[in-house]
Amino acid sequence: MTTTTVARRANAVPADPREHARAIAEAVDEAWHSRYGGSRIEVPMSVVAVLAVLAREAPDADQLDRVGEMAERLDHEGFALLIQRLWCEFAALRPDLNPRTKHLWSWIDDEPDETTQRAIHAVGQAALRRGLLGRFGPDGWGDYDLLGTLLQQMKSHGGRKGIGQFLTPVDVTELLGRMAAPKEGDRILEPCAGTGTMFLGAARAMRENGLDPTTCEWWANDLDPLAAALCAVNVHLWGLGWRVVVGCGDGLLDAWMHEALEHRQIAIDEMRRAWQLAMQIRAVRNVLDLPTPESPLERHMRKARPKPLPPPPPPPAPDSSTFDAEAVFRQGRLF
Ligand SMILES: C[S@@+](CC[C@H](N)C(=O)[O-])C[C@H]1O[C@@H](n2cnc3c(N)ncnc32)[C@H](O)[C@@H]1O
Repeated sequence: MTTTTVARRANAVPADPREHARAIAEAVDEAWHSRYGGSRIEVPMSVVAVLAVLAREAPDADQLDRVGEMAERLDHEGFALLIQRLWCEFAALRPDLNPRTKHLWSWIDDEPDETTQRAIHAVGQAALRRGLLGRFGPDGWGDYDLLGTLLQQMKSHGGRKGIGQFLTPVDVTELLGRMAAPKEGDRILEPCAGTGTMFLGAARAMRENGLDPTTCEWWANDLDPLAAALCAVNVHLWGLGWRVVVGCGDGLLDAWMHEALEHRQIAIDEMRRAWQLAMQIRAVRNVLDLPTPESPLERHMRKARPKPLPPPPPPPAPDSSTFDAEAVFRQGRLF
């Protein structure tokens, strides 16, 4: 594993996740705005969020390397298609979170124009160059609020501090988590969760005490759909399990809880139906022996694959005027 690109990058990335997250957030913010990305800051955040999920979910470092290297070679159109595909995979993996994460990927339905695609590409390349994939596996970004760091960076860009979002620093959430000392099976409620940093503190405290956070019920909510969406990705990145509900409403009332639970169930049922349909289509294609058409992303990936090296040129033929056949023959070999 140490010979892979990801692992080499892991050695190059800052050991401190706080420093690493800040470096990524600054690079992404700069890339998005210098490419005229516009005010839809959920778009660059969705790129970082889904790449962080990729880093967590890749079965091994070699496969992550291959995808990372391919991602670096794709052009702007191909890269935007890759991000789209990664979101589809995540939607299938965590349908329960779709009602919240949708805020991050709804730009896909709007078919981004070329300027947006170029800004998405610039953001992705900036994050990859800063070693986003260097923290991989469940521990990768499982112990830090990368997305919260990014949200604060992007909301305060260009002096727009008036709408800035200020999250509790990790040191404080750690302390609070230890003080709260949650037990297995507890129900943990955060009605104004931001990106969920308090949950991270609680989960850390549990793991320190040898407890399993996936046994708990985690209920999070925020009025801001972007913060709630990032919180939904975070609960997955932080490995909080499946007993999770993330709402988006007024935390002073309890309506968000009923609504979030209902939408969660609808999303799970929809995904189940979509899977059944996909399986039926695949079975029919197999029976009829129909070839699977190449998708636009596969076309881009094929084009981005490095060309095989041309064969080496043949050795120059001996010049007949100077070629001493007799001498060569005496040496016992002709060529
Ligand atoms: C200071 S941040 C703290 C976030 C998080 N609890 C933490 O400690 O990092 C406050 C959050 O509350 C949210 N908020 C404010 N009023 C709210 C309300 N009525 N219902 C739900 N969320 C609210 C804001 O959008 C913001 O994300």
